[in-house]
This record gives sequence, structure tokens and C-alpha cells, in this order.
Amino acid sequence: MRGAKNLLAAIALGMAALIALVLTGATGAAVQGGTKAGAGRLDPKPGIEKKIDELLKQMTLDEKLQQLQLDADWEITDDGARAGVGSVFSLTDPVRINHLQHIAVEQSRLHIPILFAFDTIHGYRTVFPTPLGEASSFDPSVPTADDTIGARETATVGIKQIYSPMVDLSHEPRWGRIAEGAGEDPYLGSVFAAARVEAAQGADYSALDKVVTSVKHFAAYGQPEGGREYNTTDMSEQRLRNFYLPPFKAAIEAGAGTVMCSFNAISGVPGCANHETETDILKKEWKFDGFIESDYTAVDELIRHGIAGNGADAAEAALNAGTDSEMVSTNIRDNAQQLLADHRITMGRIDDAVRRILRVKFRAGLFDQPYVDQAKATDPTSFVTAADRAAERAAAGKSMVLLKNDGGALPLDPTKSVAVIGPLGNDQHDMLGPWWGRGRDEDAVSVYDGIKAQNPDTTFVQGCTIAHTEPPDNTPNDVCGADAGFAEAVAAARTADQVVLALGESREQSGEAASRIDIDLPGLQQELIDAIKATGKPFVVVLFNGRPLTLGKVDASAPAILEAWFPGVQAGNAVADVLFGKVNPGGKLPVSFPQQVGQIPIYYNHEPTGRPCNPAAKYNSRYRDLPTCAPLYSFGYGLSYSTFELSNLRLSAQTMPRRGRISASVDVANTAGPKGDEVVQLYIHDPVASISQPVRRLRGFQRITLDPGAKKTVTFTLDAGDVGFYDNRGRFVVEPGQIDVFASTSSVGGLTASFTVR
Ligand code: BGC
Repeated sequence: MRGAKNLLAAIALGMAALIALVLTGATGAAVQGGTKAGAGRLDPKPGIEKKIDELLKQMTLDEKLQQLQLDADWEITDDGARAGVGSVFSLTDPVRINHLQHIAVEQSRLHIPILFAFDTIHGYRTVFPTPLGEASSFDPSVPTADDTIGARETATVGIKQIYSPMVDLSHEPRWGRIAEGAGEDPYLGSVFAAARVEAAQGADYSALDKVVTSVKHFAAYGQPEGGREYNTTDMSEQRLRNFYLPPFKAAIEAGAGTVMCSFNAISGVPGCANHETETDILKKEWKFDGFIESDYTAVDELIRHGIAGNGADAAEAALNAGTDSEMVSTNIRDNAQQLLADHRITMGRIDDAVRRILRVKFRAGLFDQPYVDQAKATDPTSFVTAADRAAERAAAGKSMVLLKNDGGALPLDPTKSVAVIGPLGNDQHDMLGPWWGRGRDEDAVSVYDGIKAQNPDTTFVQGCTIAHTEPPDNTPNDVCGADAGFAEAVAAARTADQVVLALGESREQSGEAASRIDIDLPGLQQELIDAIKATGKPFVVVLFNGRPLTLGKVDASAPAILEAWFPGVQAGNAVADVLFGKVNPGGKLPVSFPQQVGQIPIYYNHEPTGRPCNPAAKYNSRYRDLPTCAPLYSFGYGLSYSTFELSNLRLSAQTMPRRGRISASVDVANTAGPKGDEVVQLYIHDPVASISQPVRRLRGFQRITLDPGAKKTVTFTLDAGDVGFYDNRGRFVVEPGQIDVFASTSSVGGLTASFTVR
């Protein structure tokens, strides 16, 4: 909501009454509370460009090409460091990092340090909840805590770049990598993207506890066709700009120093050979002056994409599109000399790529402080400190979503005995989720241990097993497979007062290369629920998973469901906090949970159709074999142990000038139950526009804590950046007319009001 920056022109859209204001650079996804727009572009270290000029003058072509090379830890050699390789990723041994850095700085001709990088996605050693889980907090302080600690731990071992945040918006629960992002909404995704960048980089990422972020995967990697990993995507300009680009833009405005181009193709053009996204939008329109690295062998994969005949073609396509650095494959380094001779690339472009990489290295302070403090880096007390564990436990608690709680099944009574049952009940490994950094299973607290710590009268029976297989071993029933024998579990349930069923996915079933066609609870877990239910004992289901699951049967059979995602190192403690009511759950879903796989893609901010869904009639947009069009659980949905009520939605005015702003206020009260959190959500809808507008779009949210009986007023401000949208020519337009406003506690229902944009 920072509003537009450059007012270009008012233009006619060919409809007499519609005059659109075209705003380039309008945020389209600004953040409540604001961010430091463009922080990364304000050169914090004057003189860097001159130093780069000096270096560039001295560099041979070979030395320039070495800078563009990004090697994996298993590829880098002493000779590579001596030759002046640009970057190395996945190497986390501080002793070896120092060894290679000493060679680069002391033995390479121009003494240029190496940039070491790592995938710190949701923590380095102190593993936080998976990002989809964190997004459920609707609280930017959660990713802030994650990235503050993650950056410090990562920087401690000598790494100055993280391949994070992953900001790929997705409508694809079949896609395993939905776990890594913030879900289906561009606004929520933008707030979280900015928060992560600001926390990891700070005001100056040369600080010893900071790192430069790489925003990925540019762009629209979250929408692979059929949800199948690495698959292609095809979309309109407006869809790209209104849904998929805003989180990237927010990250760049927050100062993100680097970007990773994606494996997938958009409309036939792979991410790392995409001039429109890399150069036209990112570098020119958004004025990004850092560098773009390719994803893993993505330059080489241009050949298999069918847009390059050989490595030279691939190098040419990638460089000319705007890719500055090649990960793992070596096509640019190997072919640039010939490509230059053939006038297929220019020295100007190579110099630009080198300049961008050196700029980031200077900003990272690597020329001044290239070495890691080995004593600190190998000191165990530098990692997973008590304070960090406490922060992680709080973050995990805030990220859990109470999906169902019939008859007050939760919270549990801590004075009564508990049987923890299920494949994930005494598990440490899976609690860390996919992309666990350098997290260690032994750091994680299992559900059983967490519950036992708060109620010693607790037993555990697994009921069925969990395996951790990787493809090509196709074992869809990794969790609770055919070997399940429930007799012992049923017996344990019978002797306990209450049962906690710990169910879900293995961590290998989520993340990269983990697409699934069936997103029901894997294996015989539903049968386990049914067996426990048959005992008549009170029970609750706690879920650990990286993606939305189809939970219709679970919902029909369990009185209470807590979505815990993969909660990180303090998993069991955080689960126990919520189950026993020490923490009142307040998370909301950042993504829709479909009833059936066949509904995918299903997301709250869809466009209307000419025949909106009506399950009671035939010729409308519905499925013949599903009596509803709704998801099982909607975006923004989540329960609490308290009851909250919204009232008195009011606007500051009836009209908003296109360059002005308007505020919406609503009262929220905790009307029953203990102290708790509610996420007040503000949506808008533009009922008549030059292109169909989503039925609702989130444009503000605030998570607030209310004592029993307490009431607060929450105010949101809207401006052109909120009510406008991108059209199919890539222009940000603000059209006059009615805007409907919804204040609610999920994407469904709530209070409404309207104003007019003039
Ligand atoms: C992933 C990236 C990751 C890279 C380096 C790739 O397979 O797509 O997200 O940053 O590997 O680990």
C-alpha cells in the first residue's frame, strides 16, 4: 500500500466510460507497515563501482568467465579456487571454506574472494517450520525470526548467500515444493517475501550475522502443469503479473541482492533464457542491479527444453536473456570465447554480468572480511541456542492451524492420561520437513517427548511404520504401509483417557521432486483413525505435512484436527503447547485444501465465470460428481479456542481519488474463551473492470491478540496499488468505479462495504 511511484498517463481503454490510470512501478503488493523500498539499490558502500571498474580493466576473458561460474561443493577444487571461480554452493564445512577462500584471495591473480552459498530455506541448524507452515501464522514476525537466526547461523560457517526466500506462489498441492513457499496468495506472499529479505540481509548484508538473499525461482515455477515437478507453464501476462510476480517484486523492493532463474518454461520460454522476465522486467523495470544465477544445470537444460541445439546455444540464450551466473553446468565458461568471436554475445554483456557479481561481493564485505572465524564456526554453542529454540517454539505454535474442534475436543486435559499413537508420534526426522538445511534429527523434539514433558502420564504406540524412501523406489505408502498392525495401538487407546493421533506425510514426500497424484493421507492412516475411533475414546488428529491434503474422510471421522505442518526443531513442545491450551491456536490457511484432487486448481482469488457455480442446477461451472464448489477448508480459515466477532466495518470516505487513499476500520472482539489471536483480513473486489477481477483479493491482514472480552479496532489503508491491477499488456491500471470491501476472518463471508474510485 505504498502506492504508485511513477504516474505515466491516463489512458483510454477503448471503453468510453473507462479511463484507466496507468502506473508503472506501482507496488501491486505492498505491505502493511511498509518496507524499506529499494534498500538494496542504495549503495551502502560508495566507491564500489570504481573498484569494479579497476578490476574489470585488469581481468582477462578467462578470469571474467570464472566469475560467472557457480560450482557445487563436490566440484570445486583448489585449482578452481586458484583460477578464480565465482561462487560455490552447498559447502558448509568452515575449515574447507576457509581453505578455498585463502587460495582464492591469496593465490588467484586478482585476489577476488569466492561467494559461498547455501539453501537456508527455513533455518540452517535451528530448523523452523516449513515456509508454508510459517505463512499460516499470518504474522511477519515469524519469518523474521526464522531468517534472522538462519542468516546468523549460515554466516557463522562462512556462507554469505542463501538461496532463499522461495516465493513461488502456487495453486498446486500436488507439487511437493508448495511446502517451500507462502501459499496461494500474492499479497500474503509479498509480505512474507519482504520480511524474509529484510531479516536475512538487514540494512547491510556485510554484517557478520547477515547474508545476501537469492529470491527464487524466477518465475512462475509454482504452476507446473498437472502439478508435476519441473513441468511447463503457460499463462497470460496479467496472470503472471497479478499473481506470480508480486512476491518477487516485494522482495526486490525490500533489497534482495540476487535472484535465481527457474527450471520451468513460461509460454515456451525457460526461466533462465527468458529475456522478458530477466532483463525487461527484473533488471530494467524493477531496476535490479544484483545478479541472477541459474538453477541447478538449468542452462544446460535449455538443450532438453528444445530451445538450444548445443551448449554454445544454451550459453548464448542464457547470457543474452540476462542470466549472469551458471550453476553446475559450464556452458557459458566453455563457450563464451567462441560466442564472442562469432558476435553472438558481447563483451559488454559479459562485463555487465561480472560487474553484478562483483557488486554483490563488495556489498557482502567479502573483499574486507573474506575469512570465517573458525573457532566460532566450530563452536557448538553458536547454534541452536536456548533463545533460538524458544523463538522456534513460539513460531511453530503460531504456525499451527486448528481445522476442526467439535464439542471442545481441544484443548486436552493435562491431568488425564494420553496415548500418543501414529507413525509420526515419536519421530524426529520428519519434524524438520523438506530442505532441513544442516538441521539434525537429534535436535528435534518428537510429539511423544513434547507431550510427555507436559504430562508424564503419556504412552506411545506407533501403530504403523514410516519409511524414508526416495524415488525411483516408488512407495506411495511410505507412511503406514500394508504392514500396519493396529492391535497394540487400539489397546493403548483403550487404557488411556485421551488419544493424540500423529499422522501425515514423510518429509521425503514433500519438497523438490516430490509431486504426488494422490494427496489423501498416505497408506493406512485413515484405517488407523477408524480403529481408534471405534474404541470410543476421545481423540484428536495432529497432522504433519508439507502440502494441502484431501482430508474429507479425516474431517468426517475426527472430532478435532490440528494442522501442524512440519514444525521444526521444537515440534513436540510446540504441539503440546497447543494441545494443552498453553498456546491458543491462531494460524490461518495460506492455501485452500481441496475436497478432491479433481478440483485442483482451486484457490480463493479465482476469476468469476459467466455461470457461477450452483450445485442445485446444471448448466453452470460445477462438477457433476461433487455437490459443492467450495474447497474443504478455504484460504484464510482457521479456528481458535476462543470466539471472535467482527463488527462495524466503516470506510473513511465513500470515494477515493485515484491518487488518494481510503481507510477501512473494523472492530474485533474476543467474545468467548481464553486470551487468543485472531487474524483480521481485508479483501477487495472490483465488480466491473476491463478484465475480469478475482472474486476477492486479500489486501491487508493483522494478527492481533485479545484478552477475554476485549475489543480492538483494526484499520487498513488502501490506495492505487491495492485497487489497481495489471492488464494483458503489462500495464498497471487503476480504473474508476466501485470497489467492494470485505472484512472477515477467512476468505469466506464477513462484513461488506463499498466505495468508488474516481
Ligand atoms: C533447486 C533450487 C536450489 C538448488 C541448489 C535446485 O535443485 O531447484 O531451489 O537452490 O537446487 O541447491
